[in-house]
Amino acid sequence: MASLNAGGLRVRGSLRAPGDKSISHRALILSAIARGSSRIEHILESADIHSTAEALRALGATVPPLSPKMYVQGRDMHSPRNPLDCGNSGTTTRLLAGVVAGARLTATFIGDASLSKRPMRRIAEPLRAMGAQVELAPNGSLPMTVAGHKVIGIDYESSVASAQVKSAILLAAVLGRVRARVHEPHLSRDHTERMLEVRGVDLHREGTTVEVAPAQNVLPADVRVPADPSSAAFFVALALLADAGELRLTDVCLNPTRTGFLNVLHRMGARIEIADRREEGGEDVGTIVARASRLHGVELTEDEVPSLIDELPLFACVATRAEGESLVQGAAELRVKESDRIATLVGNLNRLGATAEESPDGFRIVGTRSPLRGRAVSRGDHRIAMSFGILGALTGNQIEVDDPGCAAVSYPEFWNDLRRVRQ
Ligand code: S3P
Repeated sequence: MASLNAGGLRVRGSLRAPGDKSISHRALILSAIARGSSRIEHILESADIHSTAEALRALGATVPPLSPKMYVQGRDMHSPRNPLDCGNSGTTTRLLAGVVAGARLTATFIGDASLSKRPMRRIAEPLRAMGAQVELAPNGSLPMTVAGHKVIGIDYESSVASAQVKSAILLAAVLGRVRARVHEPHLSRDHTERMLEVRGVDLHREGTTVEVAPAQNVLPADVRVPADPSSAAFFVALALLADAGELRLTDVCLNPTRTGFLNVLHRMGARIEIADRREEGGEDVGTIVARASRLHGVELTEDEVPSLIDELPLFACVATRAEGESLVQGAAELRVKESDRIATLVGNLNRLGATAEESPDGFRIVGTRSPLRGRAVSRGDHRIAMSFGILGALTGNQIEVDDPGCAAVSYPEFWNDLRRVRQ
C-alpha cells in the first residue's frame, strides 16, 4: 500500500469503527460458558475473533458463523480432539487456557509464528497454582498443553498489568467454582470484570485488586459490542494531523481503562470533544469528534501505559508530527506483543527519516516537519501496519507498508475506511 499525499489532506465524515476486539472475545467466551442463549450484536468480524470462535467450537460450544446479530448457546464443553489453533491471537490463547483449566479439560494451544514466540509462563504459573498441569516449550512459549484437575482458590500477585492474565485466572475460578483474588501493579482493561458482573457473577473490586467469590453461575446476556477505541484511534489521529476537516467516530467504547490515548492527545493540545456519552451494557460509550490540531510532544507516565498499550505504535507515529520531544517509559510489554513493537517502531521511523531512539522499556521521538519517506516493515503486526498507514496518509509523507493485509487481524476494512474519509 503506497501512499503519496502531496496536496493538503482534508478529512470529513462519520465512521463506526469495528466492534471492540477485547469485548468480542469475551462476549463469545462468556456466552459459551453460560447456561442458555446469548445474543451478540456488532461483534468484530476479524481474524482474531474467528480464532476464538473456532476454538470454542472445537471445545463443544455452539457458535454460528460471526455476523452482526448472532446467538451463542452455552453448553458443557469437552476436550478437543486436535490442538486449538489460536492464529495470531494472544487473547484467545490466554483466556481459553483459563477456561480449559477451570472446566478440567485438556487442550494443546498452537498459533502462528508471532504467537509462537510470545510468553506463556505468565499464564502457566497462576494456572499451575490453581491445580492445572501446564506444559510449555522450553523457552516458555507455545505449544502449550493445559490439563485441568481439581481447581483450588488463589490469591495472586501479578508482576505484569495484563488483562489476559487477570481474565484467565478469573475464568478458571468461575468455572472451577473457587475463590480467586488477583492483584496487578497497574489497572489493566476491566472488560472481563464488567461482563461477568452483567452476567450475575459476584465480584469485589478495589483499586487494582479484584476478587471473585466461589461457586458462581454465569447467566446468559445480550451484548451490544461498542466500537473499538483502539481502532477508532487511527482515525482520531488522522483527523488531528490532517490539514483541515473533522471526523466523527461513533459508538466508541470509552471505558476509562481504554481512554489513555485520548487523555494523552488532550495533553498534546488536540481538539477532541466527546458527544452523546451514555452507558450501554456496563460500558461507557460515546462519539469522538476530532479536528485538525497543532500538537506538542509529551511524556507518558508508567501508570497510564496500560490504558493505551495498544495505541503506543500510533502514538509514536503521531509524535513525529508534534512539536518537540515525546517520551514513553515503563512500556516493556511492547516487546512481547504481536511483534517487538519498540524495535519495529523505532527501526521504521529512523528508516523513514524521523528521529527515534529506543530504550529497554520505551522510546523517545523528536517531532519533525520534514517529509517521511520509504518502506515501513510491519513484521505481520496489524497495529504497526495501520499506524504507518495513517502516517503515510499525511501531507508530504510517502510511505509504503509492506504487508497491508495483516490489518485483517483486528480491522479488515481499515484501508477502505482510510480511502473513504479522505477528500
Ligand atoms: C487484551 C489485553 C492486552 C492488549 C491486547 C488485548 C485483552 O494484552 O494488549 O491487545 O483483550 O485482554 P495484555 O493482557 O498482554 O496486556
